[in-house]
Amino acid sequence: MSASKKKIQHPRAKHDFKGRTCSITGIGAYVPERILTNADLEKIVETTDEWIMSRTGIKQRRIAADDEFTSDLGAAAARRAMAMAGVKPEEIDLIIVATITPDMPFPATACLVQQKIGAHRAAAFDLEAACSGFIYALEVGQQFINSHTYNTVLIIGAEKLSSIIDWKDRNTCVLFGDGAGAAILQNRSDSHGLLATCMGSDGTKADLLSMPGGGSRCPATAKSVSDRAHFLRMDGKDVFKNAVNAMCAAAREVLQRCELDISQIKLVIPHQANLRIIDAVADRLGGTPEQMFVNLDKYGNTSAASVAIALDEAVATGKIQRGDLVLIVAFGAGLTWAAAVIEW
Ligand code: UT7
Repeated sequence: MSASKKKIQHPRAKHDFKGRTCSITGIGAYVPERILTNADLEKIVETTDEWIMSRTGIKQRRIAADDEFTSDLGAAAARRAMAMAGVKPEEIDLIIVATITPDMPFPATACLVQQKIGAHRAAAFDLEAACSGFIYALEVGQQFINSHTYNTVLIIGAEKLSSIIDWKDRNTCVLFGDGAGAAILQNRSDSHGLLATCMGSDGTKADLLSMPGGGSRCPATAKSVSDRAHFLRMDGKDVFKNAVNAMCAAAREVLQRCELDISQIKLVIPHQANLRIIDAVADRLGGTPEQMFVNLDKYGNTSAASVAIALDEAVATGKIQRGDLVLIVAFGAGLTWAAAVIEW
């Protein structure tokens, strides 16, 4: 048996959770049909395919239809995850939606998803940790499974980022896309699952990446609209540096917690923001390019959906097989970061 196929005993699962293991029993993703290419963007802002490809690695991104909202993307991904897990809507105990682009400030997008998929028994709430949101939701969902509170938790990362993008700002509009990914979490004491998770945040750097308008500090007014306060703003260079540092630290922390070396990890699924960030993380962790999963060329940065969409694709294309060790790691506004090691 190779090191990566060996069943790892997670100390927390053994001692704290009475043998309960939180497993991902279903994964699914959904992206809108409409494709926006770099050539299309050349007609909107002063940019080139060459600049976008060389600075980010992104070739195209998906854009939701006018009548397609974050809850629709999330519900579509959820149905696919439920089908894979063989879970019926009435079996879902809890729905957590991670998003920075809810359908509206309230009610929670999770409640709108609940209505769309008919999960009438479920409790539902949203979680906001920007691009780290899906892994935050995984950690939170895991707590409900391991504490015996719930048996079946649906977590979703869903974004309609096109609704908060400033299409006049070439620094940001070329980077983002729409989409959703979902996972079903269940207890499988005899099976594989989450080995270690970690989350972190640094609110002192909140200004590096934000959307200032629309909250209690800057409610919508004619001025907030003319000031373009309802669009995403980012200090790209500073975010880049922080992203590399935080993702490496989070990855090292979860590896250390389950006493694994990067060489034992079959696939690393990093947040899909920029190919240069992924390369820098691989380099610093001592991982090989083959270990790093990349699909940002097709979808751009889909924030909370990014890791979930990538995980779904890695499973669907056979890059992850049962028993493989997978490291997921993300970074986002807040600042926030999170990582997890999963025995698939
Ligand atoms: O999801 C979590 C958070 N997001 C991220 O992780 C994103 C992190 N940051 C990045 O990925 C990169 O910093 C960017 C892709 C945003 C920018 O790359 P960069 O290598 O840091 O470029 P830069 O900001 O230093 O800009 C270099 C030049 C500037 O021109 P000047 O001032 O040197 O004349 C920009 O105006 O590139 C210019 N530029 C563009 N040129 C053509 C910026 N955006 C564009 C563009 N097309 N779309």
